[in-house]
Amino acid sequence: MTDPADLRSTLLAEAHAASSLDALEALRVRALGKQGAVTTLLKTLGHASPEERQRLGPVYHALREELSAAIAGRRTALEDAALESRLTAERIDLSLPAARPQQGRIHPISQVMDELAEIFADLGFTVGTGPEIEDEWHNFTALNIPEHHPARAMHDTFYFPEVQSGERGRMLLRTHTSPVQIRSMMTHEPPLRVIAPGRVYRSDSDATHTPMFHQVEALVIDRDITLGHLKWTVEAFTKAFFEVDDVALRFRPSYFPFTEPSMEVDVACSIENGVLDLTKRGRWLEIMGSGMVHPRVLTACGLDPDEWQGFAFGMGIDRIAMLKYGMTDLRAFFDGDGRWIAHYGFDPLRAPSISGGAGA
Ligand code: PHE
Repeated sequence: MTDPADLRSTLLAEAHAASSLDALEALRVRALGKQGAVTTLLKTLGHASPEERQRLGPVYHALREELSAAIAGRRTALEDAALESRLTAERIDLSLPAARPQQGRIHPISQVMDELAEIFADLGFTVGTGPEIEDEWHNFTALNIPEHHPARAMHDTFYFPEVQSGERGRMLLRTHTSPVQIRSMMTHEPPLRVIAPGRVYRSDSDATHTPMFHQVEALVIDRDITLGHLKWTVEAFTKAFFEVDDVALRFRPSYFPFTEPSMEVDVACSIENGVLDLTKRGRWLEIMGSGMVHPRVLTACGLDPDEWQGFAFGMGIDRIAMLKYGMTDLRAFFDGDGRWIAHYGFDPLRAPSISGGAGA
C-alpha cells in the first residue's frame, strides 16, 4: 500500500501544478471520487483495528480536507486566469470607425444655413436669433410699418387670438426675419454685423409657396456706411455662395418701409432643368430685398441717425437652396420622406467651410 505521506505530497503537487480545469477535475476524480485513491484509503479504516483507526483516521481525513482545499484553491486560480485572458482578448477599441455606414443626412435647408453662417462669419458677421412668435411692434411698428399701413395687409399674417395681446400689440408668427434687426439693435451697441437665418410664416400655400419658409436677414450698423458697402457685401456673398469668380448683379429700385432707398437685387443667370448657372447669363433672377436702414427704424431702436447708418437685406433661403442644388419641388422640402433626404441630403461629417468651398 502506498505510504500516505507520499500519496499526500504527490497529490498536492499535482493539484498545484494542474494546468487546466479539465486536468484538475481528472485529478479530483482520481483522488476523491468513488474509486479514488484517498477514498479507497478511507475505506480501509472500516477493516482496521481500533488502535489503527485511531492513529490513521485523523491522518486520512486531514489528507482529504487538505487535498479538497488545494483543488478548490487551484480551481479559483485557473478560473481567474481564464477570465483575465478573456478580458484582454475581447477588448473593444471604441475609437475604430463603426462597421455600419452612417445613415443620417443633413437637410438642404440646414446645409444652406450652415453655408450662410460660414460665408458671413468670414466677413465678420455674427449669427443673431429672434422668436418665431413675435409681437406687432417688432414685426411691423418698429420697422416703420404703422397700423393700417397697406404693407401689413400684404404679409398674410397668422395672428394669435386678441386675448393674448400685450403692451406691444397682438402676437403673431413673424412674417419675415426683419424683426431680428430690431432685436439686435436694441440689445447690442453698434457697430453691428449680424445675420439672422430662420423660419418665417405667411398664410400662403401653392406649388411655389409653403405657409412656413426660411429667410436670412443681414444687418450692418456703423458710422459712414454707404450703398457701396451694401453692394460690395451682396456681391461678395453671391460669389461665395454660388461658388463663382464673377457675377453680374442688377440693383432695381423698390420699396420697403424699413429701408430708404430700397432695392431688389437680381443676378444674371440661366436656369436649366432647375439648376442655376451663373456663368451663362440669359435672364435675371431676383434673389433679395435690400436697402439702407430707414432713419425711423434707427430712432425706434434708440439710435441717432446722424451718428449711425446701416444697410440690411433679406433673402428667401428655400428657393436659392433649390436652385443651387437642382431640386424642383419646394413641397418635398417639408414632406419628411426618407428616400428624398437620402438622395438630396448632405454628409453630416462634411461641414461647410470657406477653405473647402462653402458648399462643397
Ligand atoms: N423683410 C423683407 C421681406 O420679407 C426683405 C428685406 C429685408 C428687405 C431687409 C430689405 C431689407 O420681403
